[in-house]
Amino acid sequence: MAITYHESTRVFTLQTEHTTYQMKVGRFNILKHLYYGKKVEGSSMDYLLWYPDVGFSGNPYEADTDKCFSLDIQPQEFPSAGVGDYREGCIEAVNPDGSRAADFRYVSHSVSRGAYGIKGMPAAYDEGEESETLLICLRDDATGLELELKYGVFEKEDMITRAAVLKNTTSGTVELEKLFGVCLELPFGEWEVVHFHGRHAMERMPERIPLGHGTFCISSKRGTSSHQHNPSLILCAPETTEDAGDCYGMLLVYSGNFTARAEVDQMGQTRAVMGINPEQFRFRLDAGECFETPQAILGFSGEGFTELSHRFHRMIGRHICRGKYKYARRPILINNWEATYFDFNEEKILRIAGQAAQLGIEMLVLDDGWFGKRDTDTSGLGDWYVNREKLPEGLEGLSEKIHALGMKFGLWFEPEMVSEDSDLYRKHADWALRIPGRKPNRSRYQLVLDMSRQDVRDYLFERMSDLVSRARIDYVKWDMNRSMSDIYSAKLPRERQGEVFHRCMLGVYELLERLTTAFPDLMIEGCSGGGGRFDAGMLYYSPQIWCSDDTDAVERLQIQYGTSFFYPVGTVGSHVSASPNHQTGRETPFETRGVVAMAGSFGYELDLNLLPDEEKELVKAQVADYKKYYELIHQGDYYRLNAPGDGRDFVAWAFVSEDKRQVLLNLVVTHVRANAKAMFVRLKGLDEGKTYRLPDGRLLSGGALMYAGLSIPARPGEYRPIQMELVAQ
Ligand code: DGJ
Repeated sequence: MAITYHESTRVFTLQTEHTTYQMKVGRFNILKHLYYGKKVEGSSMDYLLWYPDVGFSGNPYEADTDKCFSLDIQPQEFPSAGVGDYREGCIEAVNPDGSRAADFRYVSHSVSRGAYGIKGMPAAYDEGEESETLLICLRDDATGLELELKYGVFEKEDMITRAAVLKNTTSGTVELEKLFGVCLELPFGEWEVVHFHGRHAMERMPERIPLGHGTFCISSKRGTSSHQHNPSLILCAPETTEDAGDCYGMLLVYSGNFTARAEVDQMGQTRAVMGINPEQFRFRLDAGECFETPQAILGFSGEGFTELSHRFHRMIGRHICRGKYKYARRPILINNWEATYFDFNEEKILRIAGQAAQLGIEMLVLDDGWFGKRDTDTSGLGDWYVNREKLPEGLEGLSEKIHALGMKFGLWFEPEMVSEDSDLYRKHADWALRIPGRKPNRSRYQLVLDMSRQDVRDYLFERMSDLVSRARIDYVKWDMNRSMSDIYSAKLPRERQGEVFHRCMLGVYELLERLTTAFPDLMIEGCSGGGGRFDAGMLYYSPQIWCSDDTDAVERLQIQYGTSFFYPVGTVGSHVSASPNHQTGRETPFETRGVVAMAGSFGYELDLNLLPDEEKELVKAQVADYKKYYELIHQGDYYRLNAPGDGRDFVAWAFVSEDKRQVLLNLVVTHVRANAKAMFVRLKGLDEGKTYRLPDGRLLSGGALMYAGLSIPARPGEYRPIQMELVAQ
């Protein structure tokens, strides 16, 4: 049993293979957090609780004359609000009587096999019922409100999931202004935070900073998880490195507005919470209604960041990504965006596809510009009808010709958007989010559809499913190219306008669910101007996401490095594009672009017809290599061997197969110097007792390669790569 409850001590213990999570129903039925960390067996950790008499930290009435029992000090699973805990909380609600306090106490619990679901939202699933679920029912006696805390225990993956449901069991109305499903208490120790910030075309840059007193906060209020902050956080001990030290990961399974906060309180205790951003959020719950929070996934590693990443990779790969392509090899694709932008016709696309087919590429993805009046980004969004000027035989005709080449056919959509210059907008202006009396904020000339509306979603489902079935579409690239603003739904009353952001997100999830259910073999690639919605929520519907609009291989070294802390390599859409690169103007060797793009779901995005013959041969070789190493890359363990910008003149990473017999070492030189030092890397994750053969025939033990390392004397030249396979004998 992964979940146990001891009646006498009232202690819950959640065990995974290497971690323990413990909590206790304490005095006055307050659900206290006891411990989360490295596995501990046979002990109740309630000896860790302490009861200092802290000035200005009050005491619950039940504590009578005991000045040492304060909610402001005690670690809790779901902190109360407005009754004496002044730290970061999990709930803000206006009760039926207008008061704002909430104080939930333990009532009952139940344990079951299998994973819990969350209504209308993605959540870690479990096909084999290997996981266990703990539901704890709490109640606020003063209002009668009920709260259910959900815990999922994924033993093998060493992961705990958390979520909460607020049930309005009163006869009045509750206005919810904040509800977080997770609170992680670290009463002891000093902690640093690693978070992933960025901007369009430069996403998920890790930043590590010590937590000081007060609250550290990241958030998005753009309607997407955003390029600017990723809904993930690591708390680590100051001494933690890739290979050693304690670290906790928190990952939100949600794609909209979020916040993650970590507070160090007056006593030096750390509390981290995460959930839907309370800014611009107010959800009305009439009597009998419920509100469910998104899920958060928690992981702990006592062996540094690499192990933490591996655990998240396995969790996402096995319990978040779904569908046929969870395991099936994804087709190597050619996308026409950077090859043609809007300027294409059937002939041009077929020329690219024909060349691609000859080089072994397996799918053509037709990007933006195939529909409505769409020759620039100023018009056409929403008119999901083929543009016959560009494609006279329609998508059916093009698809048939692509399939006749032996290739699959993929198609770009941007379902959530509308151009003012479109038939859809002329007919249904009220389908766009707009505030009455205000001119909307335009971005890339487009407005955002009100995805909270059923009629909008029905239109999109009808258009997309019609095209997917009629034109035999194998793959959809689902894009989303602006931050949301002007949040107001023409369909909702005044008192429900605070729900629009979240309802739009639920609408997107509903449409994705409808599509994936109707077309189980359809592969969806997520995208939001590259990686503006790269999160576990989207990965539930689309097992890969276009990682960034920056396709420069050298820039990608950093972007893919940051992305790898939580997300497995298979989820990272990565393409070989033209040189000089369209975003940066940098020139890089074709081989480097291949090596970097192979650290992801691999494809091409350039006009293959313009390549010289030698580069066409390189495409063939890369395609063959990617197929050869597919399993190793997608199912093996990914090791960051150094960090971009760490003072070394290269970036290196490796894939190691589960049985440790096969290793693929990758390295890209980022800086050339006169009189340079040798490049030196230590491999990781090998079997120290095994002997590995290097491409030059040398035989070296796993121990030598990991502890003494490998020195690479011959500098291949600036931006040049090294990719070598090491095989155990
Ligand atoms: C942004 C995406 O990230 C690009 O790959 C491309 O699909 C464009 N949108 C098309 O408008």
